[in-house]
Amino acid sequence: MEKFIIMGGNRLNGEITLQAAKNAILPLMSCCILCAQEVTLRNCPPITDVKKMAEIIERMGGSVQFVGDDIKICCADIEPLAVDEELTKSIRSSIFMLGSMLGRFKRAEISYPGGCEIGKRPIDIHIAGLKELGVDINEMPECIECVGEKLHSGKVKLSFPSVGATENMIMVAALTKGKTVIENAAREPEIVDLERFINAMGGCVEGAGTSVITVKGVEKLHSVTFTPISDRIAAGTYLTMCAACGGDVTVRGCCSEDLKSVTEALKICGCRIEENDRSIRLVSSGNLSSVPLLRTGPFPAFPTDMQPQFCALLATAGGTSLIEETVFENRFKYVGQLENMGADIALQGRRALVTGVRELHASIVSAEDLRGGAALITAALRADGVSTVYGTKYIDRGYYRIEEILTSLGADIVRVSC
Ligand code: UD1
Repeated sequence: MEKFIIMGGNRLNGEITLQAAKNAILPLMSCCILCAQEVTLRNCPPITDVKKMAEIIERMGGSVQFVGDDIKICCADIEPLAVDEELTKSIRSSIFMLGSMLGRFKRAEISYPGGCEIGKRPIDIHIAGLKELGVDINEMPECIECVGEKLHSGKVKLSFPSVGATENMIMVAALTKGKTVIENAAREPEIVDLERFINAMGGCVEGAGTSVITVKGVEKLHSVTFTPISDRIAAGTYLTMCAACGGDVTVRGCCSEDLKSVTEALKICGCRIEENDRSIRLVSSGNLSSVPLLRTGPFPAFPTDMQPQFCALLATAGGTSLIEETVFENRFKYVGQLENMGADIALQGRRALVTGVRELHASIVSAEDLRGGAALITAALRADGVSTVYGTKYIDRGYYRIEEILTSLGADIVRVSC
């Protein structure tokens, strides 16, 4: 087990360059199953979730090599085996195997997926969509068996713009003859990236980034070398940490349009934001104001994946902020830990009323999920004194060597074994 020891109070200054987004890489890795040739994904950090997805593909007969920052994936010899139960339970993105395995082999079997415990995270929208496309689904207590012998193109209307369900529908339709139309699709930038990826392999997807996506099935997809979009949530996290501590940080390699809701909220807090073509600079005095209402929602609304980090920032912003979480019902688990550090947060269901305190104090806290862990680091970087943050394994799911990046910006943070 490991922990972070953080001496708070340093301002953050400098530049960082982003790597590819976890939430783009994971569906793309699974999508490689649709292609019988080698695919190279560039600029990918070997974070834990990516390594777990690699293990899933390997156990099914594919090969995955990490070469520098590239991931080389070859699914020529993959077989339609049941996805390993232990791995499926450890990573929610194993759900993507349904779309890609059905697309390629017309059958798939997985255990119920796991991931961070941030809500119920059912898979009913995925299942309903697959059924609309003619897939027979047998939901057993331990696993889901999908048979796609009657898989056909058609219209799928999602009951909610689920990111994962939209990606699964695109993947299952990519090699399915005819035209599939996905309505009420999620509009996240990572979905636009999946469209770019499939089209670069010879597929035919249109409309990603809007609520209606059209997929025309092609016979096969071919080899490609592809650079996924950069990690907007990592960018938002480092900018928020700088806002909390005060300083001047430039994040390079990001699309400012994809981070609009976050940079707008940072401006309301009093930060100065300069957006250039592929970079965002944030200047913060560290003395910030509250945000009257911060409501999470599907893109382009404020991302639920930035809510915990922003709550940690608002904990020391002057005035009262209201945070409303509309995406995941259990995404305030970190609040108790922030309260241990002196934060004043009143929780009521999906709402948190945050009254800014002058300072947070150092404490021993423990992360229980990925973004909640990032929130605790944000708070510890700002707090007076030396904090200990346990639960590094959650943080490592989405941030590659976070301590090295923060050290390069002037933070005092070390990872130690315990
Ligand atoms: C993806 C992201 C995650 C992000 C989330 C919302 C990846 C790998 N993960 O997760 O980081 O927080 O989008 O932006 O891209 N739901 C159902 N039934 C379903 C599917 C979803 O009820 O079949 C609910 C979920 O419980 C949740 C909401 O819909 O409350 C959003 O989920 P979804 O958009 O599917 O998120 P994920 O794809 O799991």
